[in-house]
Amino acid sequence: MSETLLEIRDLSIAFPAIGGEALGVSALNLEVQRGEAVAVVGESGCGKTLTALAPLALIPKPGRIVSGEVFYNGRAVSELPGRELRRFRGREVAMVFQEPMTSLNPVFSVGYQLGEAVDPEGRVPRKVRDERAIELLREVGVPDPERRLKVYPHQLSGGLRQRVMIAAALAGEPSLLIADEPTTALDVTVEAQIMELLEKIRRERGMALMLITHDLGVVAQYAERVVVMYGGMVVEEAPVAEIFNSPLHPYTEGLLASLPKRGRTLEPIPGNVPSLGNFPEGCPFRERCPREVSRCAQGVPDLSLRSENRKVRCVRVGEDG
Ligand SMILES: Nc1ncnc2c1ncn2[C@@H]1O[C@H](COP(=O)(O)OP(=O)(O)OP(=O)(O)O)[C@@H](O)[C@H]1O
Ligand SMILES: [Mg+2]
Repeated sequence: MSETLLEIRDLSIAFPAIGGEALGVSALNLEVQRGEAVAVVGESGCGKTLTALAPLALIPKPGRIVSGEVFYNGRAVSELPGRELRRFRGREVAMVFQEPMTSLNPVFSVGYQLGEAVDPEGRVPRKVRDERAIELLREVGVPDPERRLKVYPHQLSGGLRQRVMIAAALAGEPSLLIADEPTTALDVTVEAQIMELLEKIRRERGMALMLITHDLGVVAQYAERVVVMYGGMVVEEAPVAEIFNSPLHPYTEGLLASLPKRGRTLEPIPGNVPSLGNFPEGCPFRERCPREVSRCAQGVPDLSLRSENRKVRCVRVGEDG
């Protein structure tokens, strides 16, 4: 039986915009079950990173939570006292970011930084800390880990830096790892290696993974369930095979058509994602949508349940059978 680990309920996050405020994510509902791999996809500016940061109560300023709540194991994250929140970050939910150079500190050695992750309170003897760091580096496939402890981040390749970041994230034995575009800065071969590594660790540790990506190719291989976002909203949610075999939302169809595939020309979605505060009234996607009708302007469509585990936010779905 599945067990809900993370539940984001009706979360809206506002940022200052021309004429007031605009929502970076809007009435977001998203669940992650224990051990599950969920992908969150969408173009740039759709609200993916905000979705990744919300579970850790790391909303970037000047953003503010207008409504909603994040629950982890049934507890409201916003109500965790400071001390518990620090423990929660890392020991329950850990995060890997897009560009490891921004999250690794260039002036400290790999060993020092992993040591901080292994033992944030500095309670464990140096030798034990180093041993644990070496073990972690070995788990993430860093060759010659003993020597690597002494080097600085800039002395490592991008792929190795990302492995070190993953090692640091795993140090607290989190039950959920949130990876925000973990391979965007890497070339394709290294990307595949990193994704294989995350998948292996997830299986071995029974850890849940929330994978944020704009790359549907990665999604197909490494996610079990997919949440498609546009304009700060979930527009479609389904098991991975259904997203690829029978997408329901025109935006999902557009994302799939823009995937490079042999023997077919690429069809990018027309237009661009508007900036915050400039989405149209009604369905946020309607101005780019090939199926737009006048009804699409009349209010934001509901995210409606199509079958047991499929949801879609489009007034036109199902109308022509
Ligand atoms: N610190 C911030 N200040 C102002 N606006 C922000 C901030 N962070 C996010 N936003 C706005 O919220 C919206 C969602 O941003 P978010 O970073 O979640 O997008 P994203 O899907 O992760 O995009 P990308 O693929 O480019 O990383 C964007 O329109 C963005 O402009
Ligand atoms: Mg982002």
